[in-house]
Amino acid sequence: MSFFPIYRPRRIRANENIRRLVRETQLSVDDLIYPMFVIHGQDTAIEITSMPGCFQFSIDRLVIAAKELSELGIPGTILFGIPESKDSIGSEAYDVNGIIQQAVRAIKDAVPDLLVITDVCLCEYTDHGHCGIIESGEVKNDATLEVLVKESISHAHAGADIIAPSDMMDGRVGTIRKALDSEGYENIPIMAYSAKYASAFYGPFREAAESAPQFGDRRSYQMDPPNSDEAIREVHQDIHEGADIVMVKPALSYLDVINRVKTQFQIPVAAYNVSGEYAMIKAAAQNGWIDEKRVALEVLTSIKRAGADMILTYFAKSVVKWMNQ
Ligand code: PBG
Repeated sequence: MSFFPIYRPRRIRANENIRRLVRETQLSVDDLIYPMFVIHGQDTAIEITSMPGCFQFSIDRLVIAAKELSELGIPGTILFGIPESKDSIGSEAYDVNGIIQQAVRAIKDAVPDLLVITDVCLCEYTDHGHCGIIESGEVKNDATLEVLVKESISHAHAGADIIAPSDMMDGRVGTIRKALDSEGYENIPIMAYSAKYASAFYGPFREAAESAPQFGDRRSYQMDPPNSDEAIREVHQDIHEGADIVMVKPALSYLDVINRVKTQFQIPVAAYNVSGEYAMIKAAAQNGWIDEKRVALEVLTSIKRAGADMILTYFAKSVVKWMNQ
């Protein structure tokens, strides 16, 4: 390696065309998954206050939104459901006529090519808002697995293309994999929320999904933010149990984790650019303090540069529109 004045790094930054040639990371529509929220009812679209531009859609409106995703060339959506009523075991989560099961059938019917990923968790469906079954004030791991299995099978049965468990119970990937296989769904991939942190960045999502815990917090099952060796162990275990895609979540404060996972394992890595990351950019942009398009594209490109193969982001539709401008 030679140094100045032989090597002048600015030579390859002189104009946009040369920058295009040497650009190392390219964000593309191929990388994007758009999350959507679905509620019971008809002809309803309720904007989420802390997530401008994102809505709770009734199924008819969700189908229209799904068609738009397909027209924009976005490969897939991940769905979150708000049930009619909640109970202690989250029974609508596995109801054949639950909100997600109906939504999946409606989208697959209208837009068969759009990949429908379903989030498997109980927090939206339980009256206590935790991601599992509670006994003596504690989230019980193995009792929760049984419900997650029923939920996963019901999603597969409704036509889900990919199952994405986000609950952070131990052993759920292997347990769900086995159950899917025994029901004849051996070709449905699992996208595991493998390194999911107990993050304050989920705040706006909990408004959107009406899923805030009614007591305590999620720190006994979601990961402690200071840890990254532990993320490697989680990912390793999920791959061993049959995960096809592993996820790091949130994304922006965990770029190092994304990078470690991608460097260590040769498996597709997803990163979730979560609600709080979206809300911060939206809020600052609405105040005129930052340029939304440039900041969002810079953030998403950094997530890709860190090693993510795909990004779940509420900016997905905007990205495509910005790219086509
Ligand atoms: C369900 C789930 C959450 C998110 C995705 N799946 C919330 C949580 O764990 O509290 C967060 C997504 C976001 O913030 O955008 N467990």
